[in-house]
Amino acid sequence: MLDLFTDDTRRNPFSLYAEMRAKAPVLHVPPLDLWMIFDYEGVKRALHDHDTWSSIVTTQTGPTPDWLVFSDPPRHTLLRNIIQRAFTPRSIANLEPRIRELSRELVDGVIERGEMDLVKDYAEPLPTMVIAEMIGIPVADRPRFVRWSEIILNLSYTMSGGEAATRAVAEHAALKEEMHAYVDDLCTARKKAPKGDLLTRLVEAEVDGERLTGEEILGFFQLLLVAGTETTTNLLGNTILSFFEHPDELARLEADPARLLPTTIEEVLRYRTPVSMVFRAAKRDVMIHGQTIPAGKFVLLLMGSANRDPKQFQDPDTFDVGRDPNPHIAFGHGIHFCLGASLSRLEAKVAIPDLLSRLRGLAPASDAPWQPRKALHVHGPARLPVRFEP
Ligand code: HEM
Repeated sequence: MLDLFTDDTRRNPFSLYAEMRAKAPVLHVPPLDLWMIFDYEGVKRALHDHDTWSSIVTTQTGPTPDWLVFSDPPRHTLLRNIIQRAFTPRSIANLEPRIRELSRELVDGVIERGEMDLVKDYAEPLPTMVIAEMIGIPVADRPRFVRWSEIILNLSYTMSGGEAATRAVAEHAALKEEMHAYVDDLCTARKKAPKGDLLTRLVEAEVDGERLTGEEILGFFQLLLVAGTETTTNLLGNTILSFFEHPDELARLEADPARLLPTTIEEVLRYRTPVSMVFRAAKRDVMIHGQTIPAGKFVLLLMGSANRDPKQFQDPDTFDVGRDPNPHIAFGHGIHFCLGASLSRLEAKVAIPDLLSRLRGLAPASDAPWQPRKALHVHGPARLPVRFEP
């Protein structure tokens, strides 16, 4: 059986993706009775056609939670409008000085050591602190926040089914009460004393004249927590990983950063797509590349593969920091297009030059193969030991 979820394949899924695009761009996987789409055109078309492809999916362990990302119109439109304004390019640009400060503090914390785990010491905490501040979570609560994020992310095991899926769902259910109480307390505080953060926006938001319920606010909280952290962590980890693998491309970037930094970020998003896949359910029988996917079936859309499709990208397996145009679909496409795209691009724009300029002689500190992260739908290193001149 095709197994996308072994450590080896998760580290390097690209030859398997290439084989599948050539042999079976639309594939039925019988044990789980799910379908996979591997090619750019097929994935993009499905992302675009939300009338046919629902984001509400029922797996073996039950339906997806009622969150923005797992909703269809008209509810999707209502939910998205509530937080959209916090993510406009202007609101995001205002965060730049604070992101710089956070990045500087993280580098200050390790610089004398001459070594660090780039993921644990930098790529995880930076986006976590940024989103925590945007939401309005006290800094001191960060360890709790990280643990919750991990448990929510483990819900990705529902894709592979079996015992791991059941365990992940039970663990998440057990956590809910704790998160509920926490978020309720913060909301009560915001009702008394509003602030300029996302929690205040959620407390004050109305849908059809009604305030959001505690459950709905908790849904937003959980989604933003995982969407704002794991994704950008992988973008940063994958960037440094790609530089280590392609030192000539790093030298190109360093020679002309003003021109090449933006295209480098897009190229990492394409070359090592942080969110490798999303799922959908077919609302009707759909014919695609000569195969019929029956109504109700669960489908994985593999953006990680689509972004290496030679029909769309010249030399797709070449990491080219100057690639332009680069129409990758790492942030999805259509009505669910990532709300945090400008935020994560900004974090990368601040982080990459900061790391490269301050950590002189940055190099891998271990020859061991990197271990993939725990959540199954993402691509990136769980750890990345590096050394540099103290
Ligand atoms: C949606 C990827 C960073 C918030 C999405 C989707 C993708 C994605 C592929 C579409 C999901 C679908 O169609 O089912 C990424 C990547 C990121 C990133 C690769 C970083 C490199 C962020 C950040 C935030 C965020 C930093 C927020 C703070 C969201 C939200 C949605 C979303 C709220 C749901 C939008 C909707 O359903 O309308 N993201 N994301 N993302 N992302 Fe991101």
